Amino acid sequence: SKPLIITIDGPAGAGKTTVSKALSTRLGCIYVDTGALYRGVAYEIQRCNFNIERTAEIEDFLSGIELNLKMEKDGLHLYSLSQDITDYIRTPEITMLASSVSAMPAVREKLLGIQRSIAEFNDAVFEGRDMGTIVFPDADYKFFLYADLEIRARRRYSETDKKEQTLDEVAASMAVRDKNDSSRSEAPLKPAADAVMVDSTHMNVEDVVEKMMAHIVF
Ligand code: C5P
Repeated sequence: SKPLIITIDGPAGAGKTTVSKALSTRLGCIYVDTGALYRGVAYEIQRCNFNIERTAEIEDFLSGIELNLKMEKDGLHLYSLSQDITDYIRTPEITMLASSVSAMPAVREKLLGIQRSIAEFNDAVFEGRDMGTIVFPDADYKFFLYADLEIRARRRYSETDKKEQTLDEVAASMAVRDKNDSSRSEAPLKPAADAVMVDSTHMNVEDVVEKMMAHIVF
């Protein structure tokens, strides 16, 4: 039978990764953090000093990039060819660059293929910005997880151990990314028409997971 696909979309810091992880544990399936793939492309662009204004050369550049997500004991790891780049993709610079890079159609096209191929053989929770709208329009269950900006910024700030940014900087950077992600013409951040809306402003992780589980029938 065809794999079970659950999608969770929403703005930065809404708790998508934490909730996806917990939900996948409950369901005994994998979870896929698609933002990590965009961060991986951003990492390679920075490492190779590729000028993103050179749009005519982007496809060539992308064809040389091979990203792989692997589930390991301590969580999801991202590999670029054989290098584990998991620890390098969460810096403020890569975070911002990922947001710019994600507006490029060639980048989205490449990552779309990777995401769909994972779903061919695995039951999975996919989290990102366009999972329910573009990548998996026929997903079995779709959720849109959001929360007030201030709450999202506080959560993100408290969960980063290396404080490279102040709380206000985290909030400002999130606001810019949300705006970029929602206003781009290619696969903008927005709820799918058939997504269940979940406002996590006043909910903890367990509550959110319970609420989602209540929608999932076997
Ligand atoms: O989810 P995360 O914040 O790690 O994603 C980093 C960036 O990647 C987002 O700001 C967004 O621009 C982009 N992204 C996207 N589509 C996805 C997942 C992430 O455009 N499905």
